[in-house]
Amino acid sequence: MLEVVSFEPYTGGVIAPRRFSRFRLAVFATIERICVLLGGRHFYRWRYLSPKRLGVREIVLPLPARAAALDGFVIAHLSDIHAGPFLAKGDLGAVVDLLAERRPEVVCWTGDYVTHGIHNVQPVIPDLRKCMGELGTFAVFGNHDYKKRREWEMSAALEPDGWIFLRNSSHQLEVNGATIAFAGIEDPEEGKVVDVDAAMEGTRSADLVIALSHGPRGAPAFAEHGVAAVLSGHTHGSQVDLPFLRDLGPAHPGLRVELGGTTVLVSRGLGVVGLPLRTGAPAEVSFITLRAEPSAG
Ligand SMILES: [Fe+2]
Ligand SMILES: [Fe+2]
Repeated sequence: MLEVVSFEPYTGGVIAPRRFSRFRLAVFATIERICVLLGGRHFYRWRYLSPKRLGVREIVLPLPARAAALDGFVIAHLSDIHAGPFLAKGDLGAVVDLLAERRPEVVCWTGDYVTHGIHNVQPVIPDLRKCMGELGTFAVFGNHDYKKRREWEMSAALEPDGWIFLRNSSHQLEVNGATIAFAGIEDPEEGKVVDVDAAMEGTRSADLVIALSHGPRGAPAFAEHGVAAVLSGHTHGSQVDLPFLRDLGPAHPGLRVELGGTTVLVSRGLGVVGLPLRTGAPAEVSFITLRAEPSAG
C-alpha cells in the first residue's frame, strides 16, 4: 500500500497548473487513440469495473464524543471517473449496483468527471443520478472539469436531482440530534477562486466537518481548521506505478494519512487518463463508517 509521505505546502489561492508541451500532448493523444482502437474501453470495463474486480475499500473514522450520535453513519467516496475514451454510458453499472445495495447515508464525489471536455460526461449523467446518498450527495470539481469553463453544465444537470456542488461552500445535515457538515473547495489548480475559509464559514456550529478537495494538496489548509477528514482524489493511486511514469502523474499517491487530528483519505478513483491500465491501484469505491469511540458511547 502506498503512503503519502509529505504534502507540499499550500497556503491558499490557486496553484499553478501543470502544463505539458505540445509534443508530449501529441504523444499522449496518439497512445490514447491506439488504445481506443484496440478496444481499451471494453478492456477497462472488464478488467477494473466489473462487479468482481471493482475495489471496495472499507474505512472506519473514529468520532469525537460530541458527534457520537453519528455512530454508524456511512459516507461513500467516489472520484475521478474520467468519462471519455475509456469510460462511457453504462460502464458504471457495478458502481450503481453497489450503491443500491449498500445505500450509504451520503455520497461524496471528489471531481474529475471528464477527460477532455464536458461532452464526455453527458452520456454518463443517467448513471450519476443513480449514485446518490440517502440523505445527501456532495461534490467538488476536479482540474479536468473546468475545460472551457463549462463545469456549470454538469451542476445544472445534476442539482435538480439533489446533487450539491460545494464551490468554496458547505452544507449541513442534522442526524439524530447531531450536525454533520460537508465543506468543499474549487480545484486548487484550475478553479478561479479557491477559498478554504469561505468553505468553512458555515460549519462553525457543526459537530463534525468532512471536507472535500479534489487534490490532496488542499488538505493541510482544511486540517488547520480542525476538520475530521478530508476526502480527495486526483492521484489515481499513481494509476500505473512505474518509476519512469511516476513523474507524469500528480504527486501524493497516498491513501490515508493523519495530519494532526485530521484524516486525509485519497481515493484511487474509478477511471483513468491516457492508458486503460492500472497497476497496484484498482478502481475503487470507499465506504467510510463513522464510529463512536467506546468511551463516547
Ligand atoms: Fe483524475
Ligand atoms: Fe485531477
